[in-house]
Amino acid sequence: MNYQTLLFEVQEAVAYVTINRPDKLNALNAQAKSELREAFEHCRTDDAISVVILTGAGEKAFVAGTDIRELTALNPETGKEFSEEGQSVFNLIENLGKPVIAAVNGYALGGGMELALACHIRIAGENAKFGQPEVNLGIIPGYGGTQRLARLVGKGRGMELILTGDQIDAQEALRIGLVNKVVPLSDLISTARAMAQKIASKGQIAVRMALKAVNMTHETNLTDGQALEASLFGLCCGTEDFKEGAKAFLEKRKAEFKNK
Ligand code: COA
Repeated sequence: MNYQTLLFEVQEAVAYVTINRPDKLNALNAQAKSELREAFEHCRTDDAISVVILTGAGEKAFVAGTDIRELTALNPETGKEFSEEGQSVFNLIENLGKPVIAAVNGYALGGGMELALACHIRIAGENAKFGQPEVNLGIIPGYGGTQRLARLVGKGRGMELILTGDQIDAQEALRIGLVNKVVPLSDLISTARAMAQKIASKGQIAVRMALKAVNMTHETNLTDGQALEASLFGLCCGTEDFKEGAKAFLEKRKAEFKNK
């Protein structure tokens, strides 16, 4: 894996994917999107990886949006394709089958905010700024933002952010439920790592089933969602991890999961 726009490393079951164009505030150009797809495909298929942390290089930006230079050539036909292609990369992240934590280390604007929205958990540095400024350019969010933002923070708040293009800071993002927690920037990666390692220490079959079930929250009605939950719960009950987890509790010791 030789990336031009990403840094990629794996430590103790956690993959760190860092978008690395700090001089352009990590704006997503075509190459970065293509490499993101490649890196997340790798994360999906590598059994040594349990959790992914996604962040941006430098101390100023997570991702300041799609690369605006590449937007200028779009016409109605190529614009639709551009949107669909970006959506498919972000859908890969949301449906990775493994938890992805966004460590938001600065500006998360436009496609950068949509990228954070596609992750399962968002931790923000105190310097983080969120916004969907596409209306300022005469376009709308095209990488899933019109759909994911309102599902996360409610239709009224999502609508306001998308219609005004306003930026909000980390504390406001926390208040409206856009991020899970806010920490000093210097603690951002260590906080994300601690959460990732905690998740990685659990039985990974249960983690993946939980991820699948909760991911369906906005895709289905309560009845069908609960039917899925019951099926996945049943599958968990057939695992060695479940036997070990319950036995370890009764024996008052830490469970040793084998992810089987
Ligand atoms: N696409 C392409 N380049 C971008 C970019 C983007 N989305 N965001 C930042 N950059 C580039 C700038 O062009 C500049 O490059 P240069 O040094 O070659 O001129 C560099 O990153 C630094 O950005 P700059 O604007 O000088 O930093 P700033 O601190 O003054 O402002 C922002 C920071 C985030 C407020 C500002 O860069 C911005 O508004 N970016 C665009 C955000 C946006 O609209 N995103 C949605 C796109 S759909």
